[in-house]
Amino acid sequence: MAKKLFVRTYGCQMNVYDSARMADVLAPLGYAPVEAPEAADMVILNTCHIREKASEKTFSELGRLSLVKEERRAGGRDLTIAVAGCVAQAEGGEILRRAPYVDIVVGPQSYHQLPELVARVARAGGQVLATDFPAEPKFDHLPEDGAAPGPQAFLSVQEGCDKFCTFCVVPYTRGAEYSRPVAAIVAEARRLVRQGAIEITLLGQNVNAFHGEGPDGRAWGLGRLIRRLAEIDGLRRLRYTTSHPSDLDDELISAHRDVDTLMPFLHLPVQSGSDRILAAMNRRHTAADYLRQVDRLRAVRPDLALSSDFIVGFPGETEADLEATLDLVERVGFAQAYSFKYSARPGTPAALMTEQVSEGDKTERLRRLHQAIKRHQLAFNRRSVGQRFEVLVERPGRKPGQLIGRTPYLQAIHFDGPRRLIGRIVSVVAGAAHGISLAGQAAIAEEVAA
Ligand code: SAH
Ligand code: SF4
Ligand code: F3S
Repeated sequence: MAKKLFVRTYGCQMNVYDSARMADVLAPLGYAPVEAPEAADMVILNTCHIREKASEKTFSELGRLSLVKEERRAGGRDLTIAVAGCVAQAEGGEILRRAPYVDIVVGPQSYHQLPELVARVARAGGQVLATDFPAEPKFDHLPEDGAAPGPQAFLSVQEGCDKFCTFCVVPYTRGAEYSRPVAAIVAEARRLVRQGAIEITLLGQNVNAFHGEGPDGRAWGLGRLIRRLAEIDGLRRLRYTTSHPSDLDDELISAHRDVDTLMPFLHLPVQSGSDRILAAMNRRHTAADYLRQVDRLRAVRPDLALSSDFIVGFPGETEADLEATLDLVERVGFAQAYSFKYSARPGTPAALMTEQVSEGDKTERLRRLHQAIKRHQLAFNRRSVGQRFEVLVERPGRKPGQLIGRTPYLQAIHFDGPRRLIGRIVSVVAGAAHGISLAGQAAIAEEVAA
C-alpha cells in the first residue's frame, strides 16, 4: 500500500522543519516522499504569507496542481491536495472557495491532525479545514521518530510571536509564543544526531525569547538550553535563528563566549536604522539599543559575524530615515543581510497607515541599501582570504569535482574534493573572495576529527 507524498516548501526555516514533520506524521499511513508532484498521490503546499509575492505563489501553484489532478482523475486515480502553512492559516476559507479542488487546508499548529484529515477526505469526500489554534501544542502529538535529517538539521524549539510588529503577519499566522520543554528538545536533538546530524539549527520566530520548562521545573532561557545541547556527543555545530534584539539576555551572550560548538554567527534583524520608523514598526528598541547589543556580543566574541533583515519603504519612511538605516549598516558592518521592500499585509496595522511609499521610491531605496550591504559582505569575505576554516561540506558544486560547504561564519565556500567528504567537516583555506561566497584551495582540504 505504498503511497507517494510530495511536499513543496515556501518561506522560512520553520516551514522546512514543519514539512519534514508532516512527512513524519504521514509515514505511518504508508506515504513515502517523491521528488515531483506528477508522481504523487498527495501533494502538500507548505505556504508563506510574509509578503504579497510569497502569498501569490500559493494560488499560481494551485492552478498548476489542479491540472495534474484533472489528468489523474481522467486516468481513474486521484490526487489529494493539501495547503498548509501561513497562507492556509490566514486565508483558509478563501482557498477553499477559490480552489474547489483543494481537499485539505491545515494551519501551522494543526498539522499533527493530518492522518485524521486524510481519512475524513477519503471517507466522506468534500473539503476539510483545520485552522483553529489547538489547546494542546502540536509537539505533544508529533511522532518521536522521524526520517533521517542529513548532516544539517533544523529543530523548532519555540513557535509563534507576541511582539506584533505593525508590518508582520506572523503573530496571526503562527499564534502566541510557545516554548517546548527542554527534555523534549534534548530527546529530539539526540535522535537527530543518532541519525547523522552534526549541525543543528534551533528555530523559532523569536527563538531567543525561548523560556521552555527545564528538568528542574523552572523556565530555562536559550543560553541555558544551548549549554545543555552542547553536551550531546557527536553534535559539532549549533546555530539558532531568528532572534529579536530586545531578547538577548546575559546567559545567551555568555554562551557565545563559552560554548565552542555555538557558531560565531548571529542573524539579528533590525529592520530600520531610524528611531522614528522603529517606533512606528513597534519594534520596541532604538538604533542605539541595537548597536549596544552588537557591542555586548562583540565584547565576548570579537569575531562574531552578524546578519540582519531590513525593510525599506515602510509607511512614512523619508530620505532621512533611509540615511539612518545606511548609517547603521556602516556602523555594524554586517557579514550578510537580507533586505525587502515593505509589502502591505491585510490585517496588520501598518497596512492602514496613510503615508504609503511609492513603488519607485522603494525600488530605489532597496538598490542603495543592497549596494551598501554587498560592499560590507565583500569586505568581510575579503578579510577571510588566506584564513583556514573548518567547513561543513553540504553538497556537490556546479562544476565536476567541486564541493560546497559553509564556514563557521556561514559563508558559502567552494573547493575541489571527493564526494565522500559531503556531510563531514574539513579544513579549507579560503583562496579568493567573490561577492557572496569564497573559493577555497583544493589540495589542502582534509577532514577534521571530531
Ligand atoms: N521573527 C523575525 C522575522 C520574521 S519574518 C524577526 O523578528 O525579525 C522575516 C523577515 O521578513 C522580517 O525580518 C522582515 O524583514 C521581513 N518582513 C516581515 N513582514 C514584512 C512585510 N510586510 N513586508 C516586507 N518585509 C517583511
Ligand atoms: Fe514578526 Fe516582529 Fe514577531 Fe518578528 S518579532 S515575527 S517581525 S511580529
Ligand atoms: Fe512565512 Fe510563516 Fe515563516 S509567513 S516566513 S512561513 S512564519
